[in-house]
Amino acid sequence: MEWSAIWSEGVNVLAVICLQFGDTGKGKIVDLCAEEADIIARGTGGSNAGHTICANGRTHITHIIPSSISYTDKTHIIGNGVAFNPQIVIQELQLLDDEKISYDNLLIALNAKLTLPHHLLIDRLKEKGSGKIGTTGQGIAPTYVDYYNRTGLMVNDMLNPDIFKRKLERNLEYNQRIIASYNPEDIAEIMQHPALGSGIFYRNGSFDIDQIIASYMEYGERLLPMITDTDKFLRKAVKNGKRIVLEGAQGALLSILLGLGTYPYVTSSNASIGGLAEGVGLSVDEVDRIFGIAKAPYMTRVGDGPFPTELGGAKSAEHCRTKGVNRDSEMEQYPTNLSISDDFQLGVSLRQAGNEYGATTGRPRRTGWLDLPLLLHAVNSINSNKLELVLTKLDVLTGYPRIKLCDGYSYEGPTQRYGGRIFSKGDILTEAIPYAEIIEHCRPMYQEFPGWNIDISEVESVDDLPPQLVMITSFIERSVKKPISLLSVGKDREQTIDNRTH
Ligand code: GDP
Ligand code: IMO
Ligand code: MG
Repeated sequence: MEWSAIWSEGVNVLAVICLQFGDTGKGKIVDLCAEEADIIARGTGGSNAGHTICANGRTHITHIIPSSISYTDKTHIIGNGVAFNPQIVIQELQLLDDEKISYDNLLIALNAKLTLPHHLLIDRLKEKGSGKIGTTGQGIAPTYVDYYNRTGLMVNDMLNPDIFKRKLERNLEYNQRIIASYNPEDIAEIMQHPALGSGIFYRNGSFDIDQIIASYMEYGERLLPMITDTDKFLRKAVKNGKRIVLEGAQGALLSILLGLGTYPYVTSSNASIGGLAEGVGLSVDEVDRIFGIAKAPYMTRVGDGPFPTELGGAKSAEHCRTKGVNRDSEMEQYPTNLSISDDFQLGVSLRQAGNEYGATTGRPRRTGWLDLPLLLHAVNSINSNKLELVLTKLDVLTGYPRIKLCDGYSYEGPTQRYGGRIFSKGDILTEAIPYAEIIEHCRPMYQEFPGWNIDISEVESVDDLPPQLVMITSFIERSVKKPISLLSVGKDREQTIDNRTH
């Protein structure tokens, strides 16, 4: 593929975001775009993200550090919008040390939002109650809640012991009241988890503030050479015409924004373009090109929340949330069968074919057919003529005799209002409504397409793709009225096709 497919004339700032529920291959596409870039910056989410990069025969997964880190000649930035868990970042640095990958050019925003041990605790306690939504347990919501509550700490506070102590005490004064409402045994058990310091931050039923301060001062010291005003750095870089890749995390449909994601089954940052630009200190206007990634012709979701096209429906959702279910247990119980008629088992086979098990947790990802009303909603919400589509995972469904695309819903729930619009049983929708109480009652309607049988993972030109697949990509393009620029047919950088010639 020619590099002009990515860095075309006039493109200096390129954003990569996901248009679905995350895990669409942002890591792969960012890594691909990074080769010809100067700077790569993360702006949203935290260690809830797991981005997989396969290059030069090696696979690595990043959580908070940008996916591009193995390019040692570029600058990599963790931006201000990130929920910054220093313990995780230090673990990631250790892995880089083990692999002898230098990170001299990694910069950390001094104003990134600091995740504290009790953020993970509150997240996990909440997941034990009726407010459960299947989070990653990484303390994401409590980190952002503290920020908006004006009780949060920032990365720079780790560099100033007195300021850190004052802010921590103020923060804990508030949070301890919330924590005290939970079962002490649950608290003690969760605090033993290695991600929460294996018990060192919590002794005899209360937080050891001195230990938290001591550990965070140590983290600060370790990270000091990287901590800087990255907002300023990036603004200057834009002025100087540097090539910058903005790496999104999660996905548009997981955005906290009411009217975009499937609230409350979302993460707690704006995973769309606005949040990403803001999270690195830039404005959306400064972004020249937006790659919006979607898996096709299937999709996935991790955690709870509406998923109209899920293969096997509620049975699949329940199965995927069952503790202990993993790739090995599924392979044993449900051997891969691409032509099986049972939807649930087809969904399991799809998960196996696409290796759809969480990069961070190993959790099985729920699988279903591509939902065009949801994709159209995400595209329309982004509302930008700079948006182009990237379809990933196209190789996964090779050998499936029938491919289905959902191009509409029939509303099957009770009569309810959405503003002035009234939804009643039997109504047809072609664009999803971002209201969980409506989506959960939407029954998908499908168009069926014949599948293809030839291996496409080595195909380099769109002219060599099977006509059955081209029919599908053209249908997607027409449905969402956006050009598809890149097609991904495998996990490696090279397995990417420029679709613009089509
Ligand atoms: P991210 O969170 O968006 O970066 O995505 P993840 O890394 O969580 O999950 C995407 C998975 O799909 C990773 O294992 C990638 O290596 C893999 N992947 C990405 N693109 C493709 C593709 O086109 N085909 C196949 N088979 N795998 C892909
Ligand atoms: P990447 O960047 C897929 C989901 C969780 C849960 C919800 C809230 O790898 O695409 P949180 O821990 O953020 O409070 O969980 O959001 N979620 C993701 N799903 N990919 C991700 O990241 C995700 N990050 C969060 O499963 O449903
Ligand atoms: Mg992921």
